[in-house]
Parts: sequence; structure tokens; C-alpha cells
Amino acid sequence: MLMKSAIVLAAGKGTRMKSSKNKVMHEVLGKPMIGHVVSRLEKLHVDNIVVVVGHQAEEVETYLQHRATYALQRPQLGTGHAVMQAQSLKDTEGQTLILYGDCPLVQSETMNKLYEINEGKALTVLTAVLEDPAQYGRIVRDEKGIILKIVEFKDCDENQRQIKEINTGIYCVDNELLFKHLGDISDDNTQKEYYLTDLIEIFHRNGYDIQGLPVMDVNEVMGINDRIDLVKATVWLQNRINTEWMRQGVTFIDPTSTYVEEDVVIGEDTILYPNVYLQKGTIIGKSNTILPQSFIVSSMIGDFNTIDSSRITDSRIHDHIKIGPFAHLRNGTVVESKNRIGNFVEFKNSRIGYDSRCAHLTYIGDADVGSKVNLGCGVVTVNYDGKNKFKTIIKDGAFIGSNVNLIAPITIGKDAVVAAGTTANLDVEDGEMAIARTRQVNKVNYGFKYKNK
Ligand code: UD1
Ligand code: CA
Repeated sequence: MLMKSAIVLAAGKGTRMKSSKNKVMHEVLGKPMIGHVVSRLEKLHVDNIVVVVGHQAEEVETYLQHRATYALQRPQLGTGHAVMQAQSLKDTEGQTLILYGDCPLVQSETMNKLYEINEGKALTVLTAVLEDPAQYGRIVRDEKGIILKIVEFKDCDENQRQIKEINTGIYCVDNELLFKHLGDISDDNTQKEYYLTDLIEIFHRNGYDIQGLPVMDVNEVMGINDRIDLVKATVWLQNRINTEWMRQGVTFIDPTSTYVEEDVVIGEDTILYPNVYLQKGTIIGKSNTILPQSFIVSSMIGDFNTIDSSRITDSRIHDHIKIGPFAHLRNGTVVESKNRIGNFVEFKNSRIGYDSRCAHLTYIGDADVGSKVNLGCGVVTVNYDGKNKFKTIIKDGAFIGSNVNLIAPITIGKDAVVAAGTTANLDVEDGEMAIARTRQVNKVNYGFKYKNK
């Protein structure tokens, strides 16, 4: 069966990153570089993804898990040697894309084009024409334009150094021919490495069909070597993502300071202010206003909401809700429509029903709150006894006064009232009022005495 395969080289050390972390694990817009490459291959339903690992291999494997299979390259003797380690693909028929883990901007469209145009051919190399071809390998063609070989910068003569068409390091190869000839690569060169680039000359000698595909946007093939490159890549990707959302009807007050990750979805007429971060598959509906300093992570936001300076993680927000400033909603919280969640309010693993209010200084954890409930200022669900967590249930229409502690497990009935300042540890039945605080005593003239002391 003909298959689409890919080999991603990620065994190198990445010295210039100056980091204890594996180079390909450094993030571009919230996702490790290797994650970007693998996601884009997954988008194309590539059948086999082999990642060649070496330095800090465990880190990459722990992150990618079963999304790829791994080939260990130790020691690292060059790009040709790296591909040789992908022996699990040896008997696979079809086409194999070869990519680098530190080249995270190559788009699925480009990858797909390589698969498409290499159909029936032996090898297609993705090339780029650069004003300053720097240290890249040079594409050497004959007078008819036929690709003869790739010469590494260090092995180039004066004339070859003048060539502006370079090797991006990305190829699509007929898999059988690849594994048939990998063994023909030697380490007879300046760096005593097995150069994958030698395969081009070997293929040419055998009379195979080789072609070059110039990349549309050279930024796509940007390799990341240090933290300065990391910023360049982030800015490029950010611009690409935000521009696309503007085309889809999203307003950005300042797209250069708004960070929308690649797997996020945003609806029409939503307005994003500066310093908004939309992360990890967040889905935002239409006509929302997301004010500065908001972080929304792995959450679903409906329509017509205003979110101000708030942090929302793993939560679901319905429609027509005002959140913040400075609210924190997390761990599976659900806020149903027409709510008001105000400043310094934290919700953890809780639901709050339709048309309720929780406007100030409140902690609601492990609670199920009904609709048309008022939670006064400073309400606290006391959900933890130091060992276990307990549930609070507040039924529809209940009114919880300010500064109330609800010691869970506890149920507050429908239309019940809990008076301000109460610390409640007993259930309150439907329609009851609970009050638990000492009676007030006023002492005549004590105030004046105190002041004149
Ligand atoms: C390579 C190409 C060069 C091309 C350039 C584009 C070769 C011989 N040269 O050069 O023509 O212009 O890429 O960026 O292929 N890697 C391994 N194992 C190894 C060596 C490298 O996994 O033994 C990985 C690295 O981690 C990296 C990638 O392969 O992700 C490229 O390696 P690098 O050493 O940067 O190649 P260049 O010398 O830049
Ligand atoms: Ca490189």
C-alpha cells in the first residue's frame, strides 16, 4: 500500500539556545517547535511519523507520546546518518517527507504540495532563493537547470558560494529509493559527517527524476537556533494567525500584542484588546469583547460576553455574561447565560445557573449554584477540611448575604435566605432563612471614651 510517511530530525544539540531544555521543546506561540511540525503532519493524515531523537530524547518522547514513533540516533553523525536510523520505514512504499524539528513554520500546504508534486518522481527538494545565502547548502544545477547536487557551504568552491538558491533541508523522497541508497552516503567531507544532501548527487548518477520546489515565503523555512530566532518565528506566526482572523471578521485593537494560538477559533465581531492570550484550543463565539490582560485557556466562550482582565481555564461560559475585572474561573466551571461574575471572584469546578449574580470578592469551589441566585460580597464555600473536598448546593432563587461562609457539604434550598455574616454548617430548607451570628450589643458613649483615652 502506498503511504505518506515523514521523518522529522530532532537529534541535534542546539547549543546556541543556551538552555537545559531540548531545543525543539522551546515554544512558538504556546506550542513546542516539534509540536508544530507534528500537528501539521497530522493535519495531512500522514500515515507514519518517525521522529529521530538523540539529545534529551526522553523530553521529546514524553511530550509527543504516541503521536509519533521514535528512532534513536546516538551519536549524531550528520543528517544522512539521522535518516538512516528510521529503519522502521525501510519496507514502506510511498513517499517520505524529511523535515527538521527546529523548523516549526513550514505550513501544511507546503508539505502537501511536496507530496503532490513528488508523485511519480524520485526526489523533490524545497529550495529558497536568498539575497544572502549565508551558510546554507547550495543547489547546483546544470545549464539546462537540472539539479546535479547540493554542496555544503563548507565544501563549496568560490563559484558555488555565489549561488543564491539554497537547500532548506526539507525534501520529499520516494521511500524505496531513499532506503535503497542511504547506504551509499559516505562521510568523506570537511565535517566528516554523513550528509543527507549527498543523496541528490547519488540520485542524479542513477538517472532518477529530481526537482526543486521554491518555497513561497522564505520565512516558512526559518530554522530556529537561538532565542532571537524564536521571537522572529513567533512574530511571523502571530501575524499570520491574526491576519487570518481579521479576514474572518475579528477586530484586533493591536494585533502585535494579542496572542492567539494556532488551534483557537474566534467568531465574527469579537473584539480583542491588547495583551489578550487565547490558548490551547479555546473556542470563542461571536460579538464578545475581550478586554486587556485576559488569559483564556482550553475554554469555550459563547456569544455577546464581556471579559475584563480575567483568567479562564478549562471552563465553559455561555452568553450575555460580564466577567471581571480580575475574575478567575477554572477546572470545569460552567457559567450559564446572563450572569454577572465580578471582581476578585474565583470559581473552581462549579456551575452557576441562568441569570445569577456574584459580583465581588467570592470563592465558589465544588458547588452547584442554581439560577437567579444572588451571591453577596465575600461569600465563601468552605469546601476543604484539609483532607477532602465537599460539595455545596445552592438552589434556584436563593439569596446568600455578604460575608457568608457555607461549610460543605451543605445544601441551601430554593428561595432560601442566608443572612449576612452567617457561618452555616447545616442545610437550609426551601424558603427558610438562616442566621448564625451573635446578637449585636451597643454600649452608650464607649466610642467617645475610646477616642479620648
Ligand atoms: C543542513 C543541510 C544544508 C541546509 C541546512 C538548512 C545537510 C548536510 N546540510 O545543514 O544543506 O542548507 O540544513 O537548514 O543536511 N540533525 C540530527 N542528527 C544529526 C545532525 C542533524 O538529528 O546527526 C538534525 C538537527 O537537530 C537539525 C537538523 O537535523 O534539526 C539540521 O541539522 P544541522 O546541523 O542544523 O544542519 P546544517 O548543517 O545547518
Ligand atoms: Ca542548521
